Amino acid sequence: MAPDTLTVIDNRTGKSYEIPITHETIPASALRQIKVNPDDFGIMAYDPGYGNTASCKSAITYIDGDKGILLYRGYPIEQLAEQSSFLEVAYLLIHGELPTQAQLDKWVYDVMHHTFIHENLTRMLEAFRYDAHPMSMLASALSIMSTLHPDAKNVDDEASRNKQVLRILGKLPTVAAFIYRHRIGRPYNYPNSDLGYTGNFVYMLDYMHQSKYEVNPVLAKALDVLFILHADHEQNCSTSVMRNIGSAKADPYSAMSGAVGALYGPLHGGANEAVVKMLTEIGSVKNVPGYVERVKKGEFRLMGFGHRVYKNYDPRARIIKQVAYDVFKVTGSDPLLDIALALEEVALHDDYFISRKLYPNVDFYSGIIYRAMRFPVEFFTVLFALGRAPGWLAQWIELVTDREQRIARPRQIYIGHPQRDYVPLAQREAHPVHQG
Ligand code: CMC
Repeated sequence: MAPDTLTVIDNRTGKSYEIPITHETIPASALRQIKVNPDDFGIMAYDPGYGNTASCKSAITYIDGDKGILLYRGYPIEQLAEQSSFLEVAYLLIHGELPTQAQLDKWVYDVMHHTFIHENLTRMLEAFRYDAHPMSMLASALSIMSTLHPDAKNVDDEASRNKQVLRILGKLPTVAAFIYRHRIGRPYNYPNSDLGYTGNFVYMLDYMHQSKYEVNPVLAKALDVLFILHADHEQNCSTSVMRNIGSAKADPYSAMSGAVGALYGPLHGGANEAVVKMLTEIGSVKNVPGYVERVKKGEFRLMGFGHRVYKNYDPRARIIKQVAYDVFKVTGSDPLLDIALALEEVALHDDYFISRKLYPNVDFYSGIIYRAMRFPVEFFTVLFALGRAPGWLAQWIELVTDREQRIARPRQIYIGHPQRDYVPLAQREAHPVHQG
């Protein structure tokens, strides 16, 4: 018997099957040979939420959830957060290696020279009501960008892909800043490529024609680090959406519009918004134990806690906690921080959370930082999206250049009616209707 195999015995038939194991994984298609009758479909794996299904081979990001390790292209997140910059990390994720100085200079120049957006897109953003959610506006803006760059449909052409990467990375902060300015009813600030990636972003958000305006370097640096921490996280919900839509060979703007929609959800990127709402609702450190008791009773979840992959402290949360203190030196402390620290303290010593391995995740402290920087709460997930953009793009390129990939198309276990005949309207009986 070959050593790297799994022997499966089908007790229905007594037949034995040898299935190859590579990378601690069996090919799901190998299960299909396991049948009782020759015309059976064969065995499938049932895995709602894909908790134990590898959908691709990837060389981008490695996570060891038990040890709390996160590597981009092999480099530890702690080293990148401390020594690198967001655009350098974007290059690393997309091109696979750290750039030389000349490569980095060209990359930064190219990205920063794709920051202007089409005026049609600017005008379309104007059509949104002042209180439209920024994530819906961002998803819509990406769909509009798909119409403005129809060459992006050439997804099998490397030069076209590289062009879209520059456009998306360059333009997304401008779109985000214009969304922000639209919501507060202020004129748009057009990009200034001399200010660097996050510096220019802060400028586009904040500049009010002061004669002596300067971007605060601590805040720009904090955003840069936060973007690095969010830049990729392997096959999470929004990245899987990016890959799923990309697998149909849709252009990357359309795929990223879908990914933004997924990120918007409160169980994913929307959790940073939900954390601040939760901390505000708790209101005071003295209310923390009572709130935790209600979580334990299953009334609601502790937002910013728990992760599908991390069963240890999320390494990004540890770095973010430090960034928070740097930001508070500039902005002044936030009373919500005390509530967050108290909540973390109670949860980390409570058996409910210990036994389920629930630790603070990336969203637990990021919302407090964004709030201290005076971002409106609805804008938090847009910041997550700006950080995640290079990861989505790297994963999309890996997908479209992977010869083993096909259009994403899961199977189902059908539990509905067997075939039945159409009933004419006059002969139908009332059936209970779910009112929602
Ligand atoms: N608060 C209280 N209980 C929790 C929480 C939480 N935040 N998360 C999980 N649990 C419990 C859950 O009730 C279940 O308990 P039991 O075994 O008694 O039924 C157990 O822990 C396992 O939970 P699960 O739902 O099977 O875990 P999952 O891997 O499907 O969910 C998660 C992962 C992130 C969706 C979930 O932990 C959650 O809802 N967390 C709160 C939302 C949040 O912070 N999301 C941000 C995730 S990190 C950034 C990102 O991905 O965008």
